[in-house]
Amino acid sequence: MTRDVLAIADLADEEIEEIFRRAERMEAALKSREKMHDAAGTIMATVFYEPSTRTRLSFEAAMWRLGGAVISAPDMKSSSAAKGETLADTMKVVSSYADLLVVRHFWDGAARLAAESADIPVINAGDGSHEHPTQTLCDLYTLRRAKGTLKGLTVAVGGDLKYGRTVHSLVRALARFGANIVIVPVRGMEFPGWLLQQLADEYAYQPRIARPDDLKALAQDVHALYLTPAKPHQLTLFTDAEFDLEERLASAEPITLDALYMTRQQRERQDTPDDGVEYLRVDKETFQDPSMRHTLLMHPLPRTGEISAALDRDPRSVYFQQAAYGVPVRMALITFLLDHRAAAAATVAAAPRAEGTIRIGPRCANPNCVTRREEVASERRFRLRRESNGGGHLVCLYCEHELRIQVIGNRKSRHFHVYDEPMYGYLDGWMRDGTLVIFDSVKQAEEAGYKPYKLGPQKAIMNAAEIERSLAELTDAILADTPELNELVIIGIKTAGAYLAHRLVERIRTARGVEVELGVVDVHGGSDAIQRWPGNGADGEPVPIADRSVVVVDDVINSGWTVKEALAAIWRCGRPREARLAVLVDRGHRQLPIKPTYVGKHLPTAPHERVRVRLRELDREHKDTVVIYSYVDPKAA
Ligand code: NCD
Repeated sequence: MTRDVLAIADLADEEIEEIFRRAERMEAALKSREKMHDAAGTIMATVFYEPSTRTRLSFEAAMWRLGGAVISAPDMKSSSAAKGETLADTMKVVSSYADLLVVRHFWDGAARLAAESADIPVINAGDGSHEHPTQTLCDLYTLRRAKGTLKGLTVAVGGDLKYGRTVHSLVRALARFGANIVIVPVRGMEFPGWLLQQLADEYAYQPRIARPDDLKALAQDVHALYLTPAKPHQLTLFTDAEFDLEERLASAEPITLDALYMTRQQRERQDTPDDGVEYLRVDKETFQDPSMRHTLLMHPLPRTGEISAALDRDPRSVYFQQAAYGVPVRMALITFLLDHRAAAAATVAAAPRAEGTIRIGPRCANPNCVTRREEVASERRFRLRRESNGGGHLVCLYCEHELRIQVIGNRKSRHFHVYDEPMYGYLDGWMRDGTLVIFDSVKQAEEAGYKPYKLGPQKAIMNAAEIERSLAELTDAILADTPELNELVIIGIKTAGAYLAHRLVERIRTARGVEVELGVVDVHGGSDAIQRWPGNGADGEPVPIADRSVVVVDDVINSGWTVKEALAAIWRCGRPREARLAVLVDRGHRQLPIKPTYVGKHLPTAPHERVRVRLRELDREHKDTVVIYSYVDPKAA
């Protein structure tokens, strides 16, 4: 095992401090033109599958300055990759030529695969939209040099927060070092849910969200943002920063924005670059307000119009400085890694990680994840994350996208069970004793020869005819409320909700001769987009949502969390004019204030009871039914 830097969490706080101390020394040495030999006799390989100017050249300059040598594959399109060589093979080979490997790739999680394949330390120079830890080192170093500290600073990050890997690494570090983060996303380019969840889980941290439309007002907005949460429970969202913040709130000085970190739109990563959206732009006028007097303007570069060139000479603009610090900071990192080569495995990463991973697992749902693009040798691909409401998630070890757990099985008893909140204890226990298996679906479990755990006695509460009658009533009610059918879009929540939505659309076609647009939302970790119903002409394409009238469809509503997540996903795709909710069964026990507009059947249930909607589309052997059963302890099976 070697010491790799794949994510900013791979460096502990003290290690980052140490790298910064080294960087200061490097800066001084560079200034005095001292000849350095720290890396004499060592070779660094830079292998870049994506364009780069700053990252690669500053790494290479750093290595030369340290007296080391560099071998470089700056454009892997011209290498064996073009002949179809796998990333794993290439990394294995290159690692036998060098002592240190710097890699950039367009797949999320590619750096981890590189590290698994190489026998030398690997530095991630950017992997898809996942992380870019060394850029973050440059960013933090710049901030600290300019402001003297990181703790208690208020930093706004703006732009494409969905695909921008620089900000994905940066916000984690800011949270760790006790800075306050304000996020200013462009519409449709918000931070991925899994990242916000990580900040909440690992650092008990929740960034503030500011309006993107008026950057000029940002500094005042920031002040207001911190004055409003004077309610104690909101202050506790801050971990380390809490104390500083209270102090700052109490003092007469208004809280200022210490830095605005801008990013470009990552068009090459967007599945549907939305050219209609207005992107953020900072110009002289934006920075004129006296409240921005001390606000640093940062950018990882390249910029593509987000920052007007008129600001380049402004002393608050530090983006070229950030790029220049690339050399001493990367020199520091290189010497740090060379010095710690031996001690490699002993160091523990800073961020607390859940113990244990799962041997057999479903595929990661992120289409750009390295595990979807190339066969990976390692089986351990997920870690477990428990939600406060009892739901369980798998976190991909490569790209960190999340997957909701659907079906769990026990390797010893060779039985499976559809995962349900009360089963978390088993999940955890079976993982610990190594008997846990996770399946994508019931079908996958059955194909693997697993049998279902026996359920308690089942009672049918709706038969096929009753379900059809309910669907007819739902259709009539939706039609009665929708004068303009062409503005309507029906969105089914995957899986059963999507089939019910499809049936509603068919009924509307029969009744009115109109083909209503049908979309599918996957709240279980699939893509963020609302996709068109498969087989509806343009397969899997995103469905336009903005200003339309949306009816969300699900089979059963219980706590309301699924609906909440579906609504959040829909809003990320655009703001509908109005949204309604249709469910076949309302079984009560809501934890959120969500009330369906249309309900097929109200069914009061006890908390330990489960309701399952069986549809012929899901299971050819069954007729449509809705059953109710009691949850049974798998041990009793
Ligand atoms: C960034 C990158 O490649 O992620 N550039 C950099 O390394 N400084 C930012 C970007 O491409 O937008």
